[in-house]
Amino acid sequence: MKVLTVVGARPEFIQLAPVTSAIREAHTEVLVHTGQHFDDNMSQVFFDELGLPRPEHHLGVGGGSHASQTGQMLMALEQRILEEQPDWVLVFGDTNSTLAGALAAAKLHVPVAHIEAGLRSYDRAMPEELNRVMTDHISELLLAPTPVAVDNLAKEGLTRGVELVGDVRVDVLPRLRVLARARSESPVDQAGLKKGESFALATIHRASNTDDEARLRELLKGIGELPFRVVLPVHPRLSKMVQKFGLAFPPNLVTLPPVGILDMVALLDSCALVITDSGGLQKEAYLFERPTITLRTTTEWVETITAGWNRLCEPDQLRHSAELVLTQRPNEHPPLYGAPGVGKRIVEQLLSYMARN
Ligand code: UD1
Repeated sequence: MKVLTVVGARPEFIQLAPVTSAIREAHTEVLVHTGQHFDDNMSQVFFDELGLPRPEHHLGVGGGSHASQTGQMLMALEQRILEEQPDWVLVFGDTNSTLAGALAAAKLHVPVAHIEAGLRSYDRAMPEELNRVMTDHISELLLAPTPVAVDNLAKEGLTRGVELVGDVRVDVLPRLRVLARARSESPVDQAGLKKGESFALATIHRASNTDDEARLRELLKGIGELPFRVVLPVHPRLSKMVQKFGLAFPPNLVTLPPVGILDMVALLDSCALVITDSGGLQKEAYLFERPTITLRTTTEWVETITAGWNRLCEPDQLRHSAELVLTQRPNEHPPLYGAPGVGKRIVEQLLSYMARN
């Protein structure tokens, strides 16, 4: 079996880790990096720390508007797919790279397998929601992480080729925790925190938060009112917008440049709670048993809310929400994202689909 795998942004590099190793045990993988994330600290550090293979193709498409980014990726991916003639094109999640990979393949009648299929926030203002919906509807094999995702697909009439495999982060995070703990340097020390200090880990990068001046101002004010320090690795979009709007970070905010996955895992391992607008981090926080505040009005990871570990929050409610999640920490922590072995199950599904069709 020959699989052409498309990645481009940070979450995809993390999702790739258990899948690429499972494919390469007995099959051929052609890894294509679109270049969506191009800074070393947004890309190369993930390849190094996760031990990912060097991409066979790098398309060098970074920055630009959504249309120009996606359009350039489509053109370059079509070429690679024609050259490589893979049995599958494999895409992850919901980025512009995901949509470009799926669309280029589907138009060439190469079957698409979508990892993390069926996620929905039901907010079409999010570029990621459009990418998810469109990718699911042109994929042959829909590899869903949760029963909720399977139900979401069924509501849209998608039942053929749907397989519940669990979430790839279940495979990758325990391994990363061991590696992070074995390192002598810790980002917690580098951030200047005291030993055992109770702090929050935050990330803010979603356009709905960064590109709205009033909301971003309110968010930084809310963080400033928290009675503990907040460690924030700063995404390039956030620093751009803070500068553009002439805003200042509050004194209890400890900013770091974007961090690699091992630093992120070390911060998760030590923090008391997580404050984020990321999709992936909500789930990583759950797997690390960290209460979470999600700075959005919707989430795709609804089961973390139902289980009581995650709360949606408006910027002016930050202090109140932090108190609630810290004092009402649930006693139960069900295995919402499946058993380990997700990477292997994905490869089995690719093979069994080929045998059936
Ligand atoms: C993308 C994904 C999002 C994911 C996030 C993880 C889409 C639509 N969104 O959002 O789902 O949660 O990645 O980080 O695909 N930039 C740099 N250096 C880089 C990468 C980006 O300076 O290495 C700049 C870009 O030029 C752009 C901004 O940061 O101005 C945003 O990057 P972009 O790739 O458009 O999307 P993300 O916000 O990172």
